Amino acid sequence: MPGAKITAMGVGVPPGLLTNQDLEKMVDTSSEWIVERTGILTRHIVEKGVTTSDLASEAAQQIIDKTGIDPTTIDLIIVATITPDMMLPATACLVQDRIGAKGAWGFDMSIACSGFLYATQVAAQFVKTGAHKRALVIGLDVMSSIIDYEDRQTCIIFGDGGGAALIEPTEEGEEGIIDFLHEVDGSGGEFLCIPAGGSKHPTSKETLDSKMHFVHQDGKVVFKFATRKMPELCVRLLERHGYSGDDVDVFIPHQANLRIISAAVDRLKVPMDKVIVNIAEYGNTTAGTLPLAIDTALNQGKLKKGDLVLFGSVGAGFSAGAMLMRWAY
Ligand code: COA
Repeated sequence: MPGAKITAMGVGVPPGLLTNQDLEKMVDTSSEWIVERTGILTRHIVEKGVTTSDLASEAAQQIIDKTGIDPTTIDLIIVATITPDMMLPATACLVQDRIGAKGAWGFDMSIACSGFLYATQVAAQFVKTGAHKRALVIGLDVMSSIIDYEDRQTCIIFGDGGGAALIEPTEEGEEGIIDFLHEVDGSGGEFLCIPAGGSKHPTSKETLDSKMHFVHQDGKVVFKFATRKMPELCVRLLERHGYSGDDVDVFIPHQANLRIISAAVDRLKVPMDKVIVNIAEYGNTTAGTLPLAIDTALNQGKLKKGDLVLFGSVGAGFSAGAMLMRWAY
């Protein structure tokens, strides 16, 4: 049975920036507070009318252009997002049409910040069984569409953007995706949620007036879970393979908050120069952070063929994940 590996990446990032100084004019906050508590300086934000499928298709098209693959040979498209263009149809269908992936089926996956890792694992399963040869995994969110820019606790954190990964079978002797360890703890659901717009509270004048269609979070509870769970899963996954933090060549954590990343790094004991951090520029793009961080690592020359790469994620659900792979290109 072959393994599965990432063979190409693309990104979809809007050019517009929302800076801390912009936010100082919108809510009662200061750039100093934001930097100290989160490490964020700017976030990329879409122009009005730009959608998740626009950016996702751009990321997918980059892969097609870079690799020269025929889009009709893509078998599966999974879009991990909590900001689909519409509730129906799935954004994966919109991307499939836009990029001309005539032979693909697909679906969206709604598991917030763990979306990219969970979708990558699902795609990898199809590739490993031989059912598919080419799967496209997209992790991308237009968070500005669900953020209340009068709520200083959430509006300072989130940004728009993400990326796409092509998953293909490994060659003989290659490791590719080595293993994963994903967990959910549904008891944390209420602490990071969008209360309305689903079957529990269908959209109404009342839900709109009370802003229940925006992201609501209890930052402290989320922070506590994130600082405990992400490193715990990473350590358990490494130990399962006889590795420690010392063996990791590159650690790519979900970019939720610089303090959450620092807590994970302390626990894992991975040297900081092996940790990919781009939260200062992008903020938290939910399902978009990990593909964007892979892109950063590649651009900075920090990620090379043969590197042992550890990924960690944590977010709404609560959901969390860890993945270990040998970088393949
Ligand atoms: N600017 C200035 N002050 C702010 C503020 C802002 N943007 N947001 C909150 N505050 C205030 C609070 O009202 C509070 O004031 P008070 O003491 O008078 O009540 C004070 O700052 C401290 O708030 P606190 O909630 O303790 O701050 P914190 O250190 O926990 O940081 C978060 C807040 C949201 C940055 C932090 O909890 C966090 O990052 N949580 C995780 C969120 C996350 O990552 N979500 C996505 C998960 S994938």
